Amino acid sequence: MSNLYEQLVKYRDSDYYPFHMPGHKRNNAAKLDCVLEAVYGVDITEIDGFDNLHQAQGIIKKAQQDAAELYGADETFFLVNGSTCGVLSAISAVTQKGGRLLMARNCHKSVYYAVYLQELKTTYLYPHLVRGYNIADAVIPESVEMILKEQPDISAVIITSPTYEGVVSDIAAIADITHRYGIPLIVDEAHGAHFGFHEAFPENAVRQGADIVIHSVHKTLPAMTQTALLHVSGTLVDRERLRRYLKIFQTTSPSYVLMASIDSCMNLMRKEGHSLLEQFLERRNDFIKKAVKCRHFEIMDKQAVPDSCMQTIEPGKIVIFMRDGELTGQQLYDILSEKYHLQLEMATGGYVLAMFTIMDTAEGMRRLAEALLEIDQGIVASQANPIQAQELIYPKRDEQPETMLTIAEAITQSDEKGYDSIPINESEGRLSAEFINLYPPGIPIVVPGEKIDCKIIESVRFCLDTRLNIQGVEDGSISVLK
Ligand SMILES: Cc1ncc(COP(=O)(O)O)c(C=O)c1O
Repeated sequence: MSNLYEQLVKYRDSDYYPFHMPGHKRNNAAKLDCVLEAVYGVDITEIDGFDNLHQAQGIIKKAQQDAAELYGADETFFLVNGSTCGVLSAISAVTQKGGRLLMARNCHKSVYYAVYLQELKTTYLYPHLVRGYNIADAVIPESVEMILKEQPDISAVIITSPTYEGVVSDIAAIADITHRYGIPLIVDEAHGAHFGFHEAFPENAVRQGADIVIHSVHKTLPAMTQTALLHVSGTLVDRERLRRYLKIFQTTSPSYVLMASIDSCMNLMRKEGHSLLEQFLERRNDFIKKAVKCRHFEIMDKQAVPDSCMQTIEPGKIVIFMRDGELTGQQLYDILSEKYHLQLEMATGGYVLAMFTIMDTAEGMRRLAEALLEIDQGIVASQANPIQAQELIYPKRDEQPETMLTIAEAITQSDEKGYDSIPINESEGRLSAEFINLYPPGIPIVVPGEKIDCKIIESVRFCLDTRLNIQGVEDGSISVLK
């Protein structure tokens, strides 16, 4: 068996085209001056003249200040441990142990990990499903207001925007509300580091008034995996606490390769962000013109969902829904990979998701459009409705599991008394001891301390039967509290 490096080289030299992260797409066309070649040559530690991320006073301080200016933040921190460490630090900084957090239920796992570490109680915002597509819609500002009015012990709000499928919430309206209640809004904008550089894309959450915004630079911009940013603005966040938690959750040996990658990417966006996004949009439009000829696949856009509360769908997420054909999303994903060597970002029962960034080539997009058209022509229409089945992954608002214990209480109980591993079909009424989620996107279907009901069992069975990439289930069994 080849080692990891050999395997990577083999993949690099094959004709697989990447419609997935990271944003640089293994494409050095931007001629970034630091990272993709001769990595060892620039991989140093905190030597003289190179500053220190944890006490930045020189070259790193300047790079962070430049990034803050670019996004409109009071202060920006480079992250070398992904948005994950940004989310952990942000939530830890704005909550007290045992406090209460208002969070969208479709947040990434890292938010739930912070809830565990801080032993928080949670109140969930459950987004509606987008009608006809059955994915999570935007967070409704009025729902935030209603909950804040009723629950004065909430100390912060966190939502994800854009979502994994590109659904963007009205951040300005939500920030206005949380500020009226005197509490900070954290926006997990991990998938929106490219926002605010072109009028066809949403304004970034920093400029819309969020107090802390987290960007995975690596997800949608040309930067190395693990690179991310945390922006902070205003007076509602204690900066000293934030710095303390960033020190705790980040390595004491931050990679200069990664930090240089962030800095180069920021320079690129400052100088050429608008024109690169303009070129991206032209290529994307060419792709859409071809792909709309498919009879059995549909790419969702805002016009198709007039009654949704979303601000927009971000153009980098190409979500291809299965219409009246015989294929599930997972099957289309497999065909695109096996036959056409097009590796997409993810699949569910009802859709496949391709990520487009400024590093995508016209050739790559043409290959995807042509593959879709060819597959589409061979499809036989059927009665199956994979999009309907998708409800099983994004359950309806009124069908949510009951929280019986906080995540921390459940995990502590599991540590102290152990857990049972039982077949999913026999788990109704038991309390979950683990997270169960699809990966990607890493949004829990069930979290520790929630009661397993028939809806969850149906969801997990659906994911297993459709061969989706589910975590927290081993050979059809899940972990429940004793
Ligand atoms: C919405 C969201 N937030 C946070 C993260 C964590 O980001 P990272 O992988 O940069 O740590 C992810 C990762 O997929 C994500 O999708």
